[in-house]
Amino acid sequence: MHIFYVPNVHTSPMCARCVRVPDVRKMCKKGGINLKTLITQLQEIIEKAFKESEYEEEYGKVINSNRPDLCEFQCDGALSAAKKYKKAPYIIAEEVVEKCKNNKIFEKIEVIKPGFININVSKEFLTNYCNEIVEEEKFGCKMEQEKTVVIDYGGPNIAKPLHVGHLRPAIIGESIKRIHKFFENKVIGDVHLGDWGLQMGLVIEELKYRHPEWVYFDENFNGEYPKEELFTVKDLEEIYPCASNKTKVAEDATEEEKEKANEFKENARKNTGYLQEKKKGYYELWQKIVEISVKDLKENYKKLDVDFDLWLGESDSQKYVKPMVEKMQNLGIIYESDGAMVVDVQEPTDTTEINPCMVLKSGGVSCYQTTDLATIMQRQIDFKPNEIIYVVDKRQELHFIQVFRCARKSEIVDKDVKLTFLGFGTMNGADGKPFKTRNGGVMRLEYLIDEINNKVYEKMSQTKEIEETEKKEISKIVGLAALKYADLSNQISKDYIFDTDKFTAFEGKTGPYILYTLVRIKSILKKFFENNSIKENKILPPEEDIEKQLLLKIAKYNQTLEESYIENSPSKICTYLYELADIFNSYYQKVKILQGDNKRLNSNIVLLTLMKKIFENGIDLLGFKAPEKM
Ligand code: ARG
Repeated sequence: MHIFYVPNVHTSPMCARCVRVPDVRKMCKKGGINLKTLITQLQEIIEKAFKESEYEEEYGKVINSNRPDLCEFQCDGALSAAKKYKKAPYIIAEEVVEKCKNNKIFEKIEVIKPGFININVSKEFLTNYCNEIVEEEKFGCKMEQEKTVVIDYGGPNIAKPLHVGHLRPAIIGESIKRIHKFFENKVIGDVHLGDWGLQMGLVIEELKYRHPEWVYFDENFNGEYPKEELFTVKDLEEIYPCASNKTKVAEDATEEEKEKANEFKENARKNTGYLQEKKKGYYELWQKIVEISVKDLKENYKKLDVDFDLWLGESDSQKYVKPMVEKMQNLGIIYESDGAMVVDVQEPTDTTEINPCMVLKSGGVSCYQTTDLATIMQRQIDFKPNEIIYVVDKRQELHFIQVFRCARKSEIVDKDVKLTFLGFGTMNGADGKPFKTRNGGVMRLEYLIDEINNKVYEKMSQTKEIEETEKKEISKIVGLAALKYADLSNQISKDYIFDTDKFTAFEGKTGPYILYTLVRIKSILKKFFENNSIKENKILPPEEDIEKQLLLKIAKYNQTLEESYIENSPSKICTYLYELADIFNSYYQKVKILQGDNKRLNSNIVLLTLMKKIFENGIDLLGFKAPEKM
């Protein structure tokens, strides 16, 4: 029924709604219908009322109620309009409300002193709206013109194990990627391996020290390089810190020790240069290291249910370095400074000093900025993206300010390409410092995952109905949800404290609680569908207050998704799912879902099916799955 409002529809002759309301057809770029969010629909009415009362319509902004005990939505516009029109806010609000009184969309619309407009929507309107959502594949979310978006996340470094520092970019990037895909963007997720820096030179130097006889180091070698694995990933994990330690000198070191450290470092630097020139032997050895590392990384990301469309690294941008520098030279923006090649990026509006961006280190060696710049050029050429999003530690913000400015100045990226830095905060230990192992080392990601999974398993040990092996499997699924939800429920830029107990709790704002609720819904549905089927895909108007609350929450899912997409904010989905779960669990206590007359029962099942769809979609966008039972 379309009697209370005008939906924003497209012109598909196949669409039942277009056929029903041919006079209100509206163009829609994609196949789906743009069901306006509930709040937008309310706002349009209030705006119109402001306008008809001869006030600017901007004052008609509608928001969720600050006092859910008093109303569902509110508009505070009369208060600001009062200043402009030099009139009592109450009078303005009264005029506006008068214009809306007869609209059946409202169950209640009233003025509260000094001039707030409090709004409740009618049950019929709300029910109709939810029934529209039932019919929608994507909950009525608005799809814009397709964009091409490159997302740079992960950023692990070759020859170093994945550690907890790599957890956040993986989890956040994966979710952002899924959200953009949901909104029908063409998304390219790139792992952007750290494979071209000094750490590679260090590892090579240490290998050379241990195995001077290897053919890789023999300048005169002309044969085929070994195919078999000469070292494992475990070796590499030991080799890198060992090499890195060799460059460090204690305060009380002797001259001889200092000299040794310097020499090692200098050699590593030379190796890095050789590698970047693709010097024979060095390049082949490096390929071996990358191959072994990547294999291990892939396994680890798989455990996190995180994947990438591209496995490119810093090294892949090397061939763009020369043309890029030439471009900068032609524009006359690059110059030499202390042997390095730099570009000024200070802007007149800066309040602090921004150092020039180093495009090449002395000796023409590539550094972190070089590879990031050349990669932008590469992405521009390969994908012509509309946006590149970087999910990187927020402590690297300055680096990206320099790189983005330099990229624009040197015109290696089209003007209208949006470059977005999504800096994330640190995951800290209970002491408020970056998370470490018990003995102070860097925590390997695998151990952290095990810790969470074991905790979930422990909590499930009371559940007698599930057999042991299955319990183990379930605790992996739930553990991953606990970890991801805990991470994503924080604002991306905020630091947070890793707390196994809190993350794995089955109650409260946690992944397990969300899953628990979904599993409950699934089991009710399963019970119903064993002997029954749905007669009509329709939800009936709510009878209980809690039912109305549930419908209201459901009606806001599309808005939540649109906001989380526009703001790149998975935490909005986390909060939404938690609130929905909470309302559902109260509803579950109050309403006998599987009882009641046939029509009511049918309606309850349609409602639960929609909720299942919302939960499944929500957790999928966050990057995890639900078990069948728990
Ligand atoms: N490998 C880097 C690190 O471990 C992160 C890479 C982030 N991405 C980028 N395009 N710079 O700090």
